[in-house]
Amino acid sequence: MNKNILVAFGGVSPEHEVSVLSAMQAISALEETNYSLIPLYITKSGRWLTGEYLLDLEHYQDLDELVQQAVPCTFSHNEMGKPVLLETEKQGLFSSRQTHSIYAVLPAFHGSEGENGAFQGTCDMYNLPFAGSGIFASSLGMDKVKAKEMCRAHDIPVVDSVDFYESQWEKAQDEILDEIDELGFPVIVKPVNLGSSIGVERADDRESLIEAVETAFRYDANLLVEKAVSPLMEINCSVLGDPEEAQPSVCERPLGKEETLSFEDKYQSDDGGNKGMASADRVIPADIPDELTNKIQDMALTIFKTFRAAGVARLDFLVNAETNELYFNEINTIPGSFSFYLWKESSISIEELMVELIEIARTQHQRKIGRVRSYETNLLSQKAVQGIKGLKNKES
Ligand SMILES: Nc1ncnc2c1ncn2[C@@H]1O[C@H](COP(=O)(O)OP(=O)(O)O)[C@@H](O)[C@H]1O
Ligand SMILES: [Mg+2]
Repeated sequence: MNKNILVAFGGVSPEHEVSVLSAMQAISALEETNYSLIPLYITKSGRWLTGEYLLDLEHYQDLDELVQQAVPCTFSHNEMGKPVLLETEKQGLFSSRQTHSIYAVLPAFHGSEGENGAFQGTCDMYNLPFAGSGIFASSLGMDKVKAKEMCRAHDIPVVDSVDFYESQWEKAQDEILDEIDELGFPVIVKPVNLGSSIGVERADDRESLIEAVETAFRYDANLLVEKAVSPLMEINCSVLGDPEEAQPSVCERPLGKEETLSFEDKYQSDDGGNKGMASADRVIPADIPDELTNKIQDMALTIFKTFRAAGVARLDFLVNAETNELYFNEINTIPGSFSFYLWKESSISIEELMVELIEIARTQHQRKIGRVRSYETNLLSQKAVQGIKGLKNKES
């Protein structure tokens, strides 16, 4: 039987295009393996599509044509009760609707419902093995405020910050501004639930802060204002494994045109920008002292396990370039390009990385379904049901 890998990507997210790029990299790597590939493309308006046509990056230039050529689909169960991908439109007049078995799902989304645990939860509901983190790490990782709180509780250093909702900003702007004053300028304003530097801005005074806050509220109703680390050096480290056993990659030092990395720095460098996160300028391994590298790798591993992450994640750190003070910045549970460029240094090719992700997904799933999942009770026995009926009669 075909071992079908369902590569899921796109989604209702500002990082939609970046996700298409990560997915195409995964697909071209998986084409070198024995797995069969099925695309699941979620459009910007949330439609689920599949079909061969979606496997070619060129086809994403004309999205109207793409939607015409693709086939609507959904998760369902076949007559044996097994979860499948069901094509919801018939291909011919007399044909039946096609179904595809699924060996594992590879979520390649960035941001929003594809990365925050919602899609992972959908896979769980269908009892499908999927690569990467589960609901818990995915949703915790997406919330920059709660992720920091989790780290604080585990003595992992994070930058001082203030967070607030739009409704609070409308009611008590002056108090919030006073609190931010106490942090001291410059500060960094960011949406709590986004990525790829969208809505992230540096503010040097109250005036630019108010402007940055207004801009960021266009993306999220919940904002985080952090004291800026300056002079800043950013260091990222990827971790591969599961919450029980994992290994860190080498570190990278991403380079930007300005101190704060922008969306353009990350994805639109001079080579045309169709390689996603892998095309950004960076130093690998990071040109930092061994002692700092070790510290970052240890911390990355601790955070990965603390968050109960799985598969591959990228842990991003902020370092004061003068003092080498180190802070956790964020965890990316589906890192751009799956961080494959960091694993090359550990002699793990992108093909091997993809296969490993699928194996981890299968093992995690086996572990879960190997446990007792239902419990025999006689809660709905005649006596209990009678009792409830009794209650109803009393009410009326
Ligand atoms: N506290 C900070 N001090 C200085 N620069 C920061 C700080 N927080 C974020 N940045 C800059 O902003 C960029 C984007 O912020 P980040 O928290 O990583 O959000 P995103 O999830 O959008 O990537 C970082 O890569 C870094 O360049
Ligand atoms: Mg970031």
